[in-house]
This record gives sequence, structure tokens and C-alpha cells, in this order.
Amino acid sequence: MEEIKWLKNEMPKTDDQFLPLMSEENIGKALAFHQSFPQYTTTPLAELSQLSNYLGIKDFFVKDESYRFGLNAFKVLGGSFAMANYIAEKLAVDVAKLGYEELTSPALKEKFGQATFYTATDGNHGRGVAWAANKLGQKSVVLMPKGSAEIRFENIQKEGAEVTIEEVNYDECVRMANHLAEEAENGVMVQDTAWEGYEKIPTWIMQGYGTMSLEAAQQLQATGVQRPTHIFVQAGVGSLAGAVIGYFANLYQDNPPIMTVVEAQAADCLYQSAKVKDGSIRFVEGDLQTIMAGLACGEPNTISFDILKNHTDFFISAPDWVSEKGMRILGAPLKGDPQVISGESGAVAMGVVASVMKDPAYQELKQALKLDQNSVVLMFSTEGDTDPENYKKIVWGQE
Ligand SMILES: Cc1ncc(COP(=O)(O)O)c(C=O)c1O
Repeated sequence: MEEIKWLKNEMPKTDDQFLPLMSEENIGKALAFHQSFPQYTTTPLAELSQLSNYLGIKDFFVKDESYRFGLNAFKVLGGSFAMANYIAEKLAVDVAKLGYEELTSPALKEKFGQATFYTATDGNHGRGVAWAANKLGQKSVVLMPKGSAEIRFENIQKEGAEVTIEEVNYDECVRMANHLAEEAENGVMVQDTAWEGYEKIPTWIMQGYGTMSLEAAQQLQATGVQRPTHIFVQAGVGSLAGAVIGYFANLYQDNPPIMTVVEAQAADCLYQSAKVKDGSIRFVEGDLQTIMAGLACGEPNTISFDILKNHTDFFISAPDWVSEKGMRILGAPLKGDPQVISGESGAVAMGVVASVMKDPAYQELKQALKLDQNSVVLMFSTEGDTDPENYKKIVWGQE
């Protein structure tokens, strides 16, 4: 069995110019925007007390994004906020004035006109963009990498998007979609990752993800937890991780929790970048074969990477079995704990914490992480069973 790999972050620090993007004030705006949607509800923060006892920690919280807007994943938070900001900028109005009602009004459509939003996706981001474009009466074009699940394709198509599965990996799909957007009349690239020269939209996307962090912080407070001691967040390109770690680094400036990024071993570009310790980005190339489709990205988000360099304590590279284990634990909880239906890209942190606490092979990692009976852990189950067939196969052992 492949092992969980880990390392302590020893990359040189930068001037942290991107951290303020995830300030409480900025994220408050994203939350207010999402709250204007009729589909909005705060997603549950599941407290797994029995599991905490079993693992030997104080408490374990899982933010359950399978309840987000009926879309079974957190991703729509980013695409929708970025599209609203883009439209606000074009019309020279404050995004705070563009809630759901204004955005979906015929008057706004007339003022803004017709655009086509382009993106590449493993499924969740594209579904969010297609959903938002549909609600806004706009067009969307979505490119998916080789091997994408048919059901994820269909769910995007249902939102009226023009969607294709390409013969290349995710990072290549990003380049293709960007090229198409540049060529198209009123084409707008809405990608959930940044690169040099493409930063504005991914910044809005990260701020949109912030809603999830802010909700979690408020929910923790409501249960009497002032501050978790540990935060685990999974990463593909790292936009999500940058958003979560950036938000909590701002919130707990003087006393941040121990923050850990977890990647799929087949696409561990952040881990590989951290490993060389020089502070520069490394890519992982090839087919990036993993069940964690949302984490199958080999090229880090440049803005996010800067935040992660400064505020991540540990990088973990996890084989597929870790995610499978996490899916099973969350899907079949101990008696008294709530169930969390967590998909392949949502559950890996659960598998990591369970292995670290229970498997003597990871004793050194447990000590490095300082996980013990005083630990209050927060993780994010970022998707439900977005590929229901594969979910059953993994959790039920059903062919
Ligand atoms: C369910 C899920 N979780 C986590 C991620 C990782 O996000 P990021 O690519 O921003 O690191 C994704 C990305 O698509 C996802 O779909």
C-alpha cells in the first residue's frame, strides 16, 4: 500500500501581499452576496463527538458542503461571486448592489448584454458556472478532462451549458478553454485558478469560497469553540486551500491553528513545490490518475501559493485509499454522530486524521502535527456523492 507522505513547510516567507484579499471584510461581502440567493442556507457543521472519543482528540467538526445550493459541492460559491463581480465591474456598479434579484432581472440583462462564460472543470466548478450562467440568462461553455464521469457531464449539460470531454488532462483543458474565450466575441474565462496575468477572476472565486470558511467560523463560535486547534483542507490547484487558510490566518492572526494542506498523491503539486523549499512552484504532469477528480490538478494557483507558503504548516500527499477510508468513516458514523455523505475529493482529510491517530506507522506525523486529546479539528467535506455510482462502489463495495 502506498504511504501517506508529509512534510513541514520550510519555504521562505514572502511579503504576504495577497493575504488581505481574504480579510474578514472582503469575505463578509461574499457571504452577503450568497445570502441574497433564494437557494441559500448555511451548510451544516457536523460535530462528530463519538468519533473524537474514538480517535483520542477533543472534538472533530466537518463542514458539509453537500448541502450547498442543491448542487452537492461548494464550488458554486466561487463561480457565482466571480461572475457577479465581473458584471458589476463592466457596469461600474458596486457588487454589493448586485444581489440575486438584480442579477437575474431583465433590466440587468438588457444593460449587460450577452456574454459566454468559458471554463475547464472536473465537474463541480463547471456545474457551478453553468448553473450561475443559466440563472443570469447567459451562455456557458465547459471543457472536461479525459476520464470525466458521465454523470458529472450530464449535470453540467442540464444547466444548458455547451460541454465536452476532451482527450487531455485538467491543466490542458484550462489552456484550451482560455484560448476559446479569447477568440470568442464577449467570451469571459471564469477559471478557478490563477496564473501570471490572470488574477482578478480567480481572486473573486477564492473570496467566494470564503463564505464557507466564514460560516464555519460562526458555527464554531455558536457551539462555544473560540478557535479550532487544527484545520485540514484538501487541494487541487490550491484555490480552496488558499481561501480557507487565508481566511483563518486573518481571523486568528496572533494565534493561528495548525493548518495542513492535503493533496492526492497523483497530483501533489503543492507538496512537490514545498519539498524543494526554494519557494517556487513545481508542476506535476501526465494523466494525474486518482479517484479524487477534484484534486487532479498539477499546476498550482499562483496567488494561493503565496498565501500557502506563508501560512501552511504541513503539506500531505495522500494515496487514494486515504480518501476511500475517509468516505467510509463519514458515511457510516459511530452511533450518535451525524452522517456526512462525502465524495472522493471531500473526504481525504478524514482519512488522514484517522490514519494519523490510529496507525502507529504515522506516529511521527501525529507528533509533528501535535494532534492529541486537546485537539479540536476542523475539516471541509467539499462534495457529496457527485459520482453516485463510484460512491456506492467505494462505500458499499458494490460493483
Ligand atoms: C469537491 C472539491 N473539493 C476540493 C477541490 C479543490 O479545489 P482547488 O482546485 O481550488 O484546490 C475541488 C476542485 O475542483 C473540488 O471539486
